[in-house]
Amino acid sequence: MAPVTSLSDSVNQRLASALSAALPEAGSADPLLRRSDRADFQANGILALAKKAKANPRELATEVVARIESGEVIKDIEVSGPGFLNITISDKAIIENLAARYADAARLGVPVAEHPGTTVIDYAQPNVAKEMHVGHLRSAVIGDSVVQLLEFTGETVVRRHHIGDWGTQFGMLIQYLDEHPHELDHKAAADLQASGEEAMSNLDRLYKAARKLFDADEEFKTRARRRVVDLQAGDPHTLATWQKFVDESKLYFFSVFEKLDMEIRDEDIVGESGYNDMLAETCRLLEESGVAVRSEGALCVFFDDIKGPEGNPVPLIVQKSDGGYGYAATDLSAIRDRVFNLKASSLIYVVDARQSLHFKMVFETARRAGWLNEDVKAYQLAFGTVLGKDGKPFKTREGETVKLVDLLDEAVERASAVVRDKAQDLSEEEIAERGAQVGIGAVKYADLSTSAIRDYKFDLDQMVSLNGDTSVYLQYAYARIQSILRKAGEVRPSAHPELELAEAERALGLHVDAFAETVADAATEYAPHKLAAYLYQLASLYTSFYDKCPVLKAETPDQVENRLFLCDVTARTLHQGMALLGIRTPERL
Ligand code: ARG
Repeated sequence: MAPVTSLSDSVNQRLASALSAALPEAGSADPLLRRSDRADFQANGILALAKKAKANPRELATEVVARIESGEVIKDIEVSGPGFLNITISDKAIIENLAARYADAARLGVPVAEHPGTTVIDYAQPNVAKEMHVGHLRSAVIGDSVVQLLEFTGETVVRRHHIGDWGTQFGMLIQYLDEHPHELDHKAAADLQASGEEAMSNLDRLYKAARKLFDADEEFKTRARRRVVDLQAGDPHTLATWQKFVDESKLYFFSVFEKLDMEIRDEDIVGESGYNDMLAETCRLLEESGVAVRSEGALCVFFDDIKGPEGNPVPLIVQKSDGGYGYAATDLSAIRDRVFNLKASSLIYVVDARQSLHFKMVFETARRAGWLNEDVKAYQLAFGTVLGKDGKPFKTREGETVKLVDLLDEAVERASAVVRDKAQDLSEEEIAERGAQVGIGAVKYADLSTSAIRDYKFDLDQMVSLNGDTSVYLQYAYARIQSILRKAGEVRPSAHPELELAEAERALGLHVDAFAETVADAATEYAPHKLAAYLYQLASLYTSFYDKCPVLKAETPDQVENRLFLCDVTARTLHQGMALLGIRTPERL
């Protein structure tokens, strides 16, 4: 299907060519077209251009208007104020444009990017043998949406789940498990959810017991430390026991991702351990090139602008003085892998803003080493903290970090209550299914509807509210449209470009047309919140359309069909947009 040129693009093209004819030195200047309250669009670019060319802005604007052929697309164009242009689109062009989008069911006429590249995105990276918390939720939810957005624009996307599966803490766990070999045994679990829960409780119990022994028993401590050395040396038996922890943890991770209604593939899980073979070489390359230097036995990279509280330089430590490699060595090796083996043109890291200094140092080191250059962009999509209702970082009453699963379960429970409350003809099974789609959608939407870097309050009451900027509101708008389409029965949606449109129809239609631009912006800026804001406005415009314009009881049969068509194209846009946020749109609610 051919991509559809948006109305704003066609107006823009017409304005730009009229502008360059009227003022050749303006070249291909941007007329700065915006949606406007006064007309459909307003162009604000002429003022600055006239100023630059020492021309009178109103005169220039008048000349541009004279060169615009009004007709099919532009119904009306006039100069306003000191030299703005107000532009009104013809009703016919609006409906024809939407009809072209409607005909392209898969993409709604949204073009793919002109020069797609390869993005490696690092997101959804929990830690082995540890409970997942709200920080992991943010990375997973934001990352998943950015993946969907980028893939939709034609980008090749490689997903990397950089799980924490390596490090000294495993010595203690491995030793303990070898001494208590049945600690990770499973009862026959009914499904993924049950075995995931069991896995986490096994790991938790084992972790606590191992910790206790480690702190109390010197001999165990010595045995545990030896296992760290064995692990790093690649001793097969030690690795096999380590693998049990990874497998057990994955059972748990997959159960949480399933609950989150998110597809995470095993082959994309390349944790810290996956770069183990590269670490020595990474250090050697850095030391040989002089990017890193030995300081008190450790291999360090120094930066002019990064200082500690006392003003002394804070280095990035690539290798500790005892020879051990840490988080930085792994991330630097991962960059080499992603750039040279995976051929990335962009690297994205969806990671907590509290790790920003780490990434700043890692990226700068990689630049100095020549692993990153102008051809490869590295970007930390940093996210803020999830806060409790009291505005402080989210904790349980006992001051412990909140378990992600508990939160999700509660969201689903609340959402099910809302669904049940409104349900007219839903079975128990349907209520459970919708409850999950609404509850998980609510959690995702709350996260995605503010810009990632900002902190937000985790407030379930607000999240599952039917009014306001929530996914539930959007899902209900979608379901309401489906119910109208069902009620229409034999009457099918059909575009009638010859009809005159009401104001609410025009506003809705113009907004539907802006979907393509919104997706492009949200994808290039890695900003799902822009798409969320667009969808919320779409649902609001649909609500006013629905309030003002009777659909099934419209005046003429043609008008009924045309309004059904507006309903359906809105629904498809909502559905596609929500899918890009990772949120379901149930047909009935
Ligand atoms: N596992 C880490 C954590 O839980 C996040 C990993 C982020 N990715 C990376 N390449 N360092 O904080």
